[in-house]
Amino acid sequence: MIWFLIFMGVAQATPISSFADLQKFIQKGEYKTIESFLEALPAESKKHFTFVYQSRSLHGSSALNPRALVYLNRGKLVFSFNGSPEQKNFDKLEVMEFDQKESRFRFHEIVFPEGRLGAKHEFNLNDSKCLHCHRQDPRPIWDSYDLWPGVYGSTDGKMQKGTWELKKYQEFLNKNAKTGRYGNLHWDFSKSPVYPFVVSRKLNYKFNSSPNEELGLFISLNNADRIIRLIRQSPNYEKYKFWLFSFRGCFKFRPTEELLSGIRSASARGFKVRLARHFDQYNTTNRKGFERFYPEEIAKAEVISQAFGISLEEWASGLEANSYSFESAAGSSVESYVLPKLFEAVVDDTPELQALKKQKLSPAKFCESINKRREEELKANPLATDDWKSYYAQKGLSVEATRPIDRCVSCHTGDHHAGPTIPFDSDSQLRVALQKGGYPRGTLYQEMKYRLKSKGADRMPLNEILSAAEISKIETYLANLAERPY
Ligand code: HEC
Ligand code: HEC
Repeated sequence: MIWFLIFMGVAQATPISSFADLQKFIQKGEYKTIESFLEALPAESKKHFTFVYQSRSLHGSSALNPRALVYLNRGKLVFSFNGSPEQKNFDKLEVMEFDQKESRFRFHEIVFPEGRLGAKHEFNLNDSKCLHCHRQDPRPIWDSYDLWPGVYGSTDGKMQKGTWELKKYQEFLNKNAKTGRYGNLHWDFSKSPVYPFVVSRKLNYKFNSSPNEELGLFISLNNADRIIRLIRQSPNYEKYKFWLFSFRGCFKFRPTEELLSGIRSASARGFKVRLARHFDQYNTTNRKGFERFYPEEIAKAEVISQAFGISLEEWASGLEANSYSFESAAGSSVESYVLPKLFEAVVDDTPELQALKKQKLSPAKFCESINKRREEELKANPLATDDWKSYYAQKGLSVEATRPIDRCVSCHTGDHHAGPTIPFDSDSQLRVALQKGGYPRGTLYQEMKYRLKSKGADRMPLNEILSAAEISKIETYLANLAERPY
């Protein structure tokens, strides 16, 4: 009987649900290639995925060899790979895990031998180079419903009929998806001929089978827990607990018109940038852009963020600073995911509040007590009444760096940089490097000039939208190095 069970255990590989499971699985199986690892993986652990054909990550990607994002355990584990040995970082499996106990995302890189003789797996745990884009207290990067430029199913998470994207995806399904790494994913064509997507004849916003949206939903649920941890860690947490709790219904929050219009314009700016990434390259559905948008909810998040000294960008999930990519319906996640859990956390942390709840007061009396404590808190520690108008006037316009070129340093120089090495930290070395040729637009200098102005996924810097004034300062700086005699 025991032998029988052991045999069963081997035959039906244990499902994988955490990074620890994944690491053990790879170490035990000693899979030398990502392809053989995928082959061995239980079907259950490789049936939810989406594909990025124009990725802004460290993985090279293309329409026929897209970057695959596979998610399991409700997005608590996401791993990623691409498809051709010619692509950047073909030998690397990138992994994101959500550590539920600590409400923290972690980013790891696993290097596979991929044919290098004698090579072993390298596990780069909590790899610091990931933080250049995923931020210091790392979080996922995923555009929000309902536009994912560069991802298959970019529009509403579905394959829109008659588009370039659908044609390319079918080509991918007929070729590369059948073999190698992609072939080892678990495809279920009984669900849809363009699994895991569906073909949409016209834009309809009915929820059905969209991996992009599902991944976004999981990401925002997990990120909600992370935001709550950030608030609990804030030195101001003790000062404003009743104030915070009063949002549950004891106090009617009325955002000022200045705050709302600031949010509307910052969001419109962010959406424009996102659309530009979408349409300047490929002619998909000719859509003007749609985004469900809840400025009142974002306003709540903004006010709470200010009180606890947290950036609103922690709630968002875009790559660009100020992208206003709020996962899942642009802000509805605030009301549905973050606040209810946040109120529970405040109760857990506050004996005085628990005692008050036990008294079973009428709602009016209960709120009277909450609001009294709220007033006391605000009297002891007045909240900065912000001038939202000038606050938002500055937001979205990048804060000027002392040396604009410093914006390029962190990702291109040093020990753990994310991009190709370019000596932005040394004028004399940069002067020489700028003359080098062989880049898609000629010399490195020409490539740089192009990248600064590009609206596509290759715009530099990757993570910020610079003002026209600042771009021109960088251009002048580069021109001085590149065009002046040595
Ligand atoms: C140069 C910027 C950049 C760096 C550095 C980077 N990523 Fe990402 N990452 C992205 C972007 C952009 C996405 C969104 C999907 C895409 O474009 O491929 C992403 C998405 C992901 C995802 C899918 C889950 C999510 O966040 O949507 C995983 C997993 C991931 N990255 C892992 C890593 C790991 C591990 C590292 C470090 C080894 C890393 N990334 C470094 C830009 C980056
Ligand atoms: C958040 C990280 C990040 C920042 C900040 C950043 N870059 Fe990059 N850069 C990358 C990555 C990753 C790549 C490789 C992917 C690509 O080619 O698009 C790259 C590629 C490039 C390339 C192409 C180099 C090559 O070998 O093909 C140029 C040129 C460049 N960056 C210029 C800049 C300039 C100029 C700035 C500052 C204005 C800047 N970058 C800021 C991450 C960054």
